[in-house]
Amino acid sequence: MRSLLTLGLAVVTASAVAFAALGATDMTFTIKARQDAMKANGAAAKAIGDELKKSDPSLKIIQDSTKSLDSSLGSISPAAFPAGSGTESGVKTAALPAIWATPADFKTAYDNYAAEEKKFSGVVAGGDMSAIKAEFDNVGKTCGGCHRNNRAKD
Ligand code: HEC
Repeated sequence: MRSLLTLGLAVVTASAVAFAALGATDMTFTIKARQDAMKANGAAAKAIGDELKKSDPSLKIIQDSTKSLDSSLGSISPAAFPAGSGTESGVKTAALPAIWATPADFKTAYDNYAAEEKKFSGVVAGGDMSAIKAEFDNVGKTCGGCHRNNRAKD
């Protein structure tokens, strides 16, 4: 009887440990996925900015980088920031508590970005370099507009 009880306790303890470990693993994956998408955004934005500084920018590079911005829209949306994926997860993250404290503001910051990014994507498809340049500034402002309150400075 006692050994059964001990065994039972051991099983409960083992599953609690496994559950805690699983929880931590889940957030590691979630946080890494959004950070990777942000890094890709950073690289794409830099590539576009670098082209636009040149006297003869490559439309091809700008278009390829814009496709990368298009494809990461979902990976940086509020859904990529579930409750519990802040610093309390124990995973290194620059996501600030404001994301969860004022979710409507976070969603607005995302919606502003998504609207400008889609507009930019359309302008890039049109190929007019001066229009691309003007719209790209607006995209950059909405990246910064979200970072201002929601991302810790390094
Ligand atoms: C809706 C808000 C939001 C928008 C829009 C947004 N970001 Fe971020 N960004 C964040 C947050 C929050 C983090 C911190 C994520 C983390 O560490 O978990 C971040 C992190 C980053 C990082 C660091 C990634 C790393 O871990 O090394 C880069 C680079 C970055 N963003 C670039 C961009 C660029 C470029 C854009 C626009 C094209 C953009 N972001 C748009 C909120 C946003």
